[in-house]
Amino acid sequence: MADRPHFSGPPLASPRLAVEATAAGGGRAAAAHSPSRHGWMSSRAISRAFVAFFEERGHHRVASSPLVPINDPTVLLTTAGMQQMTPYFLGLESPPAIRMCSVQKCFRTVDIEEVGDESHNTFFFMLGNFSVGDYFKSESLRWSWEFLTQTMGLPEDRLFPTIHPDDEESLRVWRDEIGVPAQRVVGLSDNWWGPVGDSGPNGPDSEIYFDLGPGFDDGSGTGVGDNPRYLEVWNNVFMQFLQSPDGGRTPLPKQHVDTGMGLERLAMVMQGARSLYDTDLYQPIIQRAAELTGHTYGANPEIDRALRIIADHTRGGTFLISDGVLPGNEGRGYVLRRILRRAIRAGRRAGIDRPFLAEMATIVIDAFGEDYPNLVQRRRQIDRVLTHEEESFGRTLNDGIGRFQILAEGLRERDETVVPGAEVFRLYDTFGFPYDLTVELAREQGFTVDEPGFIQAMEAQRTASRAGGMFKDVARSRADLYVQLAAGRATDFLGYDPERTSVTATVLGMASPVGTVEVAEAGQAIELILDRTPFYAESGGQVGDTGEVRTEDGVVRIDETVRPAADITVHRGVVTEGFIRTGDEALATIDADRRQAIRRNHTATHLLHRALRVVLGEETHQAGSLVAPDRLRFDFTSVEGVHPEQVRRVADIANTQVIADTVVETDVTSYDDAVARGAMALFGEKYGDVVRMVGVGDFSRELCGGTHVSRTGEIGPIVITSEASVASGVRRIEALTGSAALARIAEQQQLVDGLARDLRATRDTLPESVSALRDRTRELEREITRLRGELAGSQVDTLLDQAEPIGSTGARLVATRLVTAEKAGLRQIGDRLRDRLGSGVVILGTVIDGTPSLLAMVTTDLVANGVRAGDIIRQAVPLMDGRGGGRPDLAEAGGRNAAGLDDAIGAARAAAIAMGADRG
Ligand code: SER
Repeated sequence: MADRPHFSGPPLASPRLAVEATAAGGGRAAAAHSPSRHGWMSSRAISRAFVAFFEERGHHRVASSPLVPINDPTVLLTTAGMQQMTPYFLGLESPPAIRMCSVQKCFRTVDIEEVGDESHNTFFFMLGNFSVGDYFKSESLRWSWEFLTQTMGLPEDRLFPTIHPDDEESLRVWRDEIGVPAQRVVGLSDNWWGPVGDSGPNGPDSEIYFDLGPGFDDGSGTGVGDNPRYLEVWNNVFMQFLQSPDGGRTPLPKQHVDTGMGLERLAMVMQGARSLYDTDLYQPIIQRAAELTGHTYGANPEIDRALRIIADHTRGGTFLISDGVLPGNEGRGYVLRRILRRAIRAGRRAGIDRPFLAEMATIVIDAFGEDYPNLVQRRRQIDRVLTHEEESFGRTLNDGIGRFQILAEGLRERDETVVPGAEVFRLYDTFGFPYDLTVELAREQGFTVDEPGFIQAMEAQRTASRAGGMFKDVARSRADLYVQLAAGRATDFLGYDPERTSVTATVLGMASPVGTVEVAEAGQAIELILDRTPFYAESGGQVGDTGEVRTEDGVVRIDETVRPAADITVHRGVVTEGFIRTGDEALATIDADRRQAIRRNHTATHLLHRALRVVLGEETHQAGSLVAPDRLRFDFTSVEGVHPEQVRRVADIANTQVIADTVVETDVTSYDDAVARGAMALFGEKYGDVVRMVGVGDFSRELCGGTHVSRTGEIGPIVITSEASVASGVRRIEALTGSAALARIAEQQQLVDGLARDLRATRDTLPESVSALRDRTRELEREITRLRGELAGSQVDTLLDQAEPIGSTGARLVATRLVTAEKAGLRQIGDRLRDRLGSGVVILGTVIDGTPSLLAMVTTDLVANGVRAGDIIRQAVPLMDGRGGGRPDLAEAGGRNAAGLDDAIGAARAAAIAMGADRG
């Protein structure tokens, strides 16, 4: 059964119970009714009482997990207290205790459109108690009842338990152990909870409803479960089953309990409030928002709705940011961006004409900071993110609405009612105008939106938008810009140290494909210049690093690192979350595994270079190279070809250095010193006075700026995968190292083993088996040729028997269709027939692979009398869509229409008879 949200009850409209909220009194609203014997209770007192109640009953309190689930990529945001319990329920991990309780922050987007009425929200607190294979239905239900009736003091006759109709055990507990009359226990067929997503633990549940009173009855439904008068407050889930992704259910090895009670709902009950928003969990925020608008909460339903949206979304947004979510265009980032933008629009509707999100967040932080300290710790970041998002959205909104109007007018003029997907995408992509806003504007003005077209345009863009391509054309002409952005400073490259894969740095400047930018946000492609970096910029054949640059407010995925201006490293990428500004402190982190693979390949090229010189002679020079993470390529000069045996020796020599685990050292020294010590320098390359020399023991010394392993053993095996000529005098070696080399070796072994198996041989006897196979094939080919000859001979006899006379000279004609595997077969049989006929005409046709062929042969005596093979063929070919001709004694044709072959043979025969009769 589907994940049924805890909070999606129907709206609780109640004119009778509507009360004036008081603006004063710490946001405490006047009670609409006072159900509890204990009177009004604050939400804080409620949640403390809950935790204390379960701690007294042996429960260990666990902290709320963050809204971004840890180690669970399958869910976007935490939606229930049980989420952190899933590994315990499944027996995958052992729990800190078998009884636990929590006050869990939850975020659900299902009801986002409904937020603003009395009972829907996105962010809420869930009170929950859990049993991991310990107590089950009896204790769980009894404690729920005790907590509600005793601790909360709610009257028993206003509480209604419900059960799944098949769950007799729960019915028994309610009736016999707790003493609720059986007729008050309601069976509801959708009382089933879980799994979250398409698989996981699930089971029947027992939900407890509270009767808010007749004033909440909207006349719908018949009672508990379908009338808003009855509010679901607590859900006891009995985890008994495990659902697999195909929908099958198997019993769990142990049974567990997961309960959840929305604090906002219980507060609504305990505070006699007319809605969730009239509780102390929202009132301080609502009252502040009301002040900003100059309205009074409770006076105008439209304004109330806007104020509630502001309260829910700023509260949720503040908590999301405190848990590390940043606004973006995808996933969690998009959820955050969406609620913030909805809050801003609600603010505008209510008449707020200045930025207000950050101010609302302050109220949220003050109200909840004591219990959720990371709100306080991230106060500054929350403020910055909200301020930025609001500024940027304000611009977007004004721009986008204007552009939509122009678009809408055009559509109206053309009498069109659908906004094309490509236009919606343009608004979204070029102007940052959100899709859902376009849909809303469109709806308001009587249009619909072409959603599939929008999605299609978006996908097309995704494939085309790796950052690199966008800058290719501009980079060369922008050296001045980079120098200016870097304020003339050279980038400090710290990446030679293998440990420095992450470096803190300052963003000196940024550029978009168009020019300098001060700030860039999610979705934008940018170039970043830092004061220092671990990113190696592409040069000397070694590819640039990839990775990410992270600031407090955003993340940039770096796809490419280049050095288009002397000494300045340019990091190219796309902002994937939040935003980034010039001047920000950043953590620049390279993809360390990728870099390690590059280091292996770079040192391996030095070893191969040296080994090539040993084998081919010192006159061999490097002519180019590519050092990538997954492969290396080394081009070298060689006038003559290289023998496979020489290639093997090169690999042996290089691998011997690997096994020796030689230390790789770098020296920064003078050019003259390096050359005096035997360093190989690239021919035609310019070097400064100070050079970097990379040495592998005494084996190899090269001037090189690249990154290398510390010892050759790190390289792992070097496997040369190809050696070939690429240009005159230049040859290329391609090789693999490390795990790629191991994979290649394993692959080759598998290939050999597979072949051996197929040939019923072993690795050792494989060569023998292959040569035996080759001999046998030759023998069989000879046999086939012989048999074909025999077959043709017998066919010839049959065909001769069918020969018909032409003219009166004794000449004869054979015209027929044959089945042969190849065209040569036609000639073979034709030759024999002609020889045996002595005087006559042979016409043969066949179809091979769907293509018709026709052959005509005429004996020399008839040729002398004017019977021409070429003429015969020419008369026939049009019938099989063909072309062809030939000598007077032999002509052939091919065609395209196999179905016309018989007619073509018929026409050829008729032509031959006509010629023979005339002249024979
Ligand atoms: N997991 C159940 C719910 O979310 C009970 O905690 O309703």
